[in-house]
Amino acid sequence: MSQRNPPPTPRAVITEIRSHAQFRRLNRFAHVHWGETADPTDLRLNFFDTPSYAVSVFLGARRVSLLFVFIRNVSVGSGALRLAGIGGVVTHRQHRHAGHASRLLEATHAFLRGRVDLILLCTDVRRLGRFYGQVGYTALGKPYYYTDALGRERATWGGMIVQLRRTRPSAQALKPGYRLHVGRSNF
Ligand SMILES: CC(C)(COP(=O)(O)OP(=O)(O)OC[C@H]1O[C@@H](n2cnc3c(N)ncnc32)[C@H](O)[C@@H]1OP(=O)(O)O)[C@@H](O)C(=O)NCCC(=O)NCCS
Repeated sequence: MSQRNPPPTPRAVITEIRSHAQFRRLNRFAHVHWGETADPTDLRLNFFDTPSYAVSVFLGARRVSLLFVFIRNVSVGSGALRLAGIGGVVTHRQHRHAGHASRLLEATHAFLRGRVDLILLCTDVRRLGRFYGQVGYTALGKPYYYTDALGRERATWGGMIVQLRRTRPSAQALKPGYRLHVGRSNF
């Protein structure tokens, strides 16, 4: 009688990023599995920061899902907002719709709880708003701003957030009339 090995249990792994070269190596996974949406010019101009952490989901030795976390202190009024920007969320093409990205985001939120006030990601809210909503995100409901690689201020309406800690800066940052600028590079 043949015995099959049980499928490996997905496990989340958090990696501190120590150099841009390490980030580029990890980011190859995103380039392979992202698809046509990643425009190299857009990436160079608008997504050029080095993340603080990578979060991966592995099935055995195989990475099946990946994202990057950009930790920033953002001035809001006289205070500082502890912000985590989430970027590059991607799942291996052959492992989609199995809950890996949801698992990835939940592991990321658990890691960030107590470390930051606010999580912000940039997405196509019409296409992926429902997916991110299932793991706790709500639309920012206003544009947020960043500075691109040429020093120009850019705005995006793609913001979705999870507020982990209500502080005076995080409450102010989320006010409809407050102009939230997250610094150099989108994520
Ligand atoms: C978006 C993306 C990251 C989702 O990855 P994923 O691992 O397939 O995500 P999940 O499996 O957690 O959830 C995806 C969907 O599968 C559903 N799902 C979750 N677990 C499931 C399971 N066990 N069986 C079937 N469906 C499942 C979820 O409800 C979700 O449905 P919805 O999109 O209709 O809301 C992936 O499609 C991708 O890499 N896309 C290209 C890159 C991209 O666009 N990234 C987003 C940038 S902001």
